[in-house]
Amino acid sequence: MAYPKKVCEILIREGMLPAMAACEASSIHVDSTSIASCVDYTIVNKWVLENRSSYSEVNKWLHFLTKTRKRFAVVQEQMGYWNNDSSHSLGHDKWSVGWAGDVLMPIANYMYLLRSWGVEGDLLECGAFKGSSTACLSLVCKDLDFHLFCADSFEGLPSEEGHYDKGDFIGSLDEVKHNVGKFGASDDVTYIPGWYSDSLKEFPHSLALLWVDVDLQASTMDLLSNVYGKISPNGVIFSDGFSEGVDYDGEKIRKTGGEPAGFYRFFNESKLDYKTVPGGSKGLALIIPECRENETIRYDGRAFMELLHQL
Ligand SMILES: C[S@@+](CC[C@H](N)C(=O)[O-])C[C@H]1O[C@@H](n2cnc3c(N)ncnc32)[C@H](O)[C@@H]1O
Repeated sequence: MAYPKKVCEILIREGMLPAMAACEASSIHVDSTSIASCVDYTIVNKWVLENRSSYSEVNKWLHFLTKTRKRFAVVQEQMGYWNNDSSHSLGHDKWSVGWAGDVLMPIANYMYLLRSWGVEGDLLECGAFKGSSTACLSLVCKDLDFHLFCADSFEGLPSEEGHYDKGDFIGSLDEVKHNVGKFGASDDVTYIPGWYSDSLKEFPHSLALLWVDVDLQASTMDLLSNVYGKISPNGVIFSDGFSEGVDYDGEKIRKTGGEPAGFYRFFNESKLDYKTVPGGSKGLALIIPECRENETIRYDGRAFMELLHQL
């Protein structure tokens, strides 16, 4: 499933994970295909829950998940209001809260993993709307000592595409700052206003995690062409917009629409290795750069959500 480094070491020592399931940062996310197929994460997670009181590192990780889950629930429950500027044809931008609550927990957990394995770099969020995911992630950044960069036009979507129109999902910079100030950790956020084709051109920071929630194929292409090269070795991408049975072709991405189509085009045109798996909550995908043919992603989103719901 991918565990924090010290938890991983305990699991190997206790015979719950095969030894080759890694103690090097290079193997935080991936296994050789043969190893991945012999681990039943439901059994490993049961052991984790039953033995938490005997191992402080296990307990520390589970405590982080419980605490963060409660904080994300507060954002989900208390940041909600009707959006007077709603314009999306299907009403998807009527409510101010997008990503918050349990659905965002796979990202919080992965931030803990990245920190534990010593992956360098900070976080870049592309796509803020009214700032619900920004507020949640800023809290985790503060906890784990990451800096959060939040890039958005703060004028909504740039153009028409599929069922989206220019200006959908508008949230002004003042509105986002207000919400993050009230529900998040505002000191740890730097805002990057503007269209990604310009605003991210000179983005100088290395990234442990890139969070993409921009709806459009064109926007996904724009941001990837500017910041993909800034992702650190062992850094990861999470993206919104992926449906199981639709946007995945095994561990590759199908050329459908929205973000998946942007990733598909970017990876194909730049001829880069990658693999992807469902992130564990609806619409969420985990994408691992540099993942090769004989490797498979170790993270199991379903097993993580099962663990979360048993805490
Ligand atoms: C679906 S909303 C993000 C939702 C948000 N993550 C949440 O949890 O509520 C998409 C956001 O992407 C931004 N966006 C899309 N394409 C963009 C582009 N090319 N440049 C700048 N911002 C863009 C829009 O302004 C909008 O705020």
